[in-house]
Amino acid sequence: MIKAVEKICRTHGTPLQVSLEALMACGVGACLGCVVKGVGHREEQPSYLCTCKVGPVFNAKQLEWEEATDVVSSCGGGCHD
Ligand code: FES
Repeated sequence: MIKAVEKICRTHGTPLQVSLEALMACGVGACLGCVVKGVGHREEQPSYLCTCKVGPVFNAKQLEWEEATDVVSSCGGGCHD
């Protein structure tokens, strides 16, 4: 669902912010247990954002939506695509 909303907003040029939930062990950016993939993330050039430190509210343009499965699984609100 959240991925579909992002696509609609991107298509219409509407700004979008998303609030993500993740299990947080440290809450200060040390354990990397809450990371989501940032825009431009690639296997050979990873880009991760800590939900605890950078988020939990992200501008949708900060996130990698092509691999949004990880983002969706981070959402504790029952969001499933
Ligand atoms: S909870 Fe440890 S890095 Fe975010």
